[in-house]
Amino acid sequence: MTSTASFSSDAFFIEGGTTLRGSVRVSGSKNATLPIMFASLLTEEECTVEDVPDLLDIKTACELLTNLGASYERSGKVLVFNASDLKSCEAPKEIVRKMRASVLSMGPLLARFKKAKVALPGGCSIGARPIDQHLKFFERAGAKVSIKEGYVFLEVESLEPVEFTFDLITVTGTENALLYLSRVEGRSVLRNIALEPEVMDLVEVLKKMGAKIEVEDRTAIVEGSEELGGFTHRVIPDRIEAGTLMVAIAMTGGEGTLENVNPNHLGAVIEKLTESGAKVKAFSESKLYVKGPAYKPLTIHTREYPGFPTDMQAQFMAMLSVVEGVSQIYENIFEKRFQHAHELKKMGADIILEGRKATVKGVEKLKGTVVKSTDLRASASLVLAGLIAEGCTTVTDIYHLDRGYERLEEKLKGLGACIERLPALVS
Ligand code: EPU
Repeated sequence: MTSTASFSSDAFFIEGGTTLRGSVRVSGSKNATLPIMFASLLTEEECTVEDVPDLLDIKTACELLTNLGASYERSGKVLVFNASDLKSCEAPKEIVRKMRASVLSMGPLLARFKKAKVALPGGCSIGARPIDQHLKFFERAGAKVSIKEGYVFLEVESLEPVEFTFDLITVTGTENALLYLSRVEGRSVLRNIALEPEVMDLVEVLKKMGAKIEVEDRTAIVEGSEELGGFTHRVIPDRIEAGTLMVAIAMTGGEGTLENVNPNHLGAVIEKLTESGAKVKAFSESKLYVKGPAYKPLTIHTREYPGFPTDMQAQFMAMLSVVEGVSQIYENIFEKRFQHAHELKKMGADIILEGRKATVKGVEKLKGTVVKSTDLRASASLVLAGLIAEGCTTVTDIYHLDRGYERLEEKLKGLGACIERLPALVS
């Protein structure tokens, strides 16, 4: 398999038509690792994070922590952070632009310095993504919040407990509030919180550091402490990478085992794969068996956890584009998260978009062509489409994919896929 084409960023060249078989290990979760890294800013003691994936977003978070005056050492999948000597409370534009999750520095910096200056992240290709709920929480906690020249300035006189109800469910908003309150003495109450496994992994870490946190339904009761200690923590497996690999196996009519997964985190994904005709079986607390094909159309509504994850919507769309019958996908979390549909249509998919609804009429075959990644999960869906397409598919701009999938091409190759990375043309 060869391609002589060259692109300004790395691309994948995929020869479709192989059936995936075998066993694959899932990496640690990116979206769990990021808030845990920011938790290290809350203490002067050393913090050890295990099973950290080797990803661009993790490197960007390391760059931000270093910029603030923290230090870190990486040894394989283990990262050790030390924030005993923080010098700055500013998250600059250049870094926040690279990674929106940099807003997670707000809570820890405000708790540690009583002030913070964090660049506004702005919208991105999947939606406007405001941070009004983060700011509303900090205001309720007594902070003065102002926005000037693209920066949010926060300042608080003293750290006081607070009761706050989120207007809507936000993952990083909940994480920012939990990070802050873990250093606030006294009893705080947060209502209407996100319950994603990544949020609960952060709760585990904050408890190891000395905060008392109880979560019941969508309410968290937090009793923080000014004297938080260090921690050693192994991050949870990446449920979205696991889901992506499960869909890849199912849609190629293959059969395989995933290791380092938590089946409990994948309930809605397993439900939909099973409904589509695939077989999924949890072997143990960390192993899943998947067998394709997936052949029945589905109706999917993306929802907050434990509902169907928005981060799996694009991958299911790729799968459903060749499932006979009519499937319907409703994207309820992000208003612009259907960019991949346009690229899938270039490959022959029959998809009609009406606002937040996509109607997918299964076609017999997709055809390989050149398609462009527009965001992290969209890129994954195009790779999956390439695996089942007739002929060769080139997926360009895979820097989006590299932000959140650790060596996906190697994992797919291990399962038998014909996929090569075409390095960017260096001019
Ligand atoms: N929202 C507001 N105001 C806020 C916060 C959120 O209106 O103050 C809206 C958002 O615009 C969106 C919805 O609420 O429409 C949910 O957004 P949320 O805040 O939950 O998303 P996030 O925290 O920015 C995290 C993940 C995303 C994942 C979403 C939803 C991280 C670093 N990012 O984003 O992951 O899609 O939760 O589950 O944890 C990805 O990995 O590809 C990714 C985008």
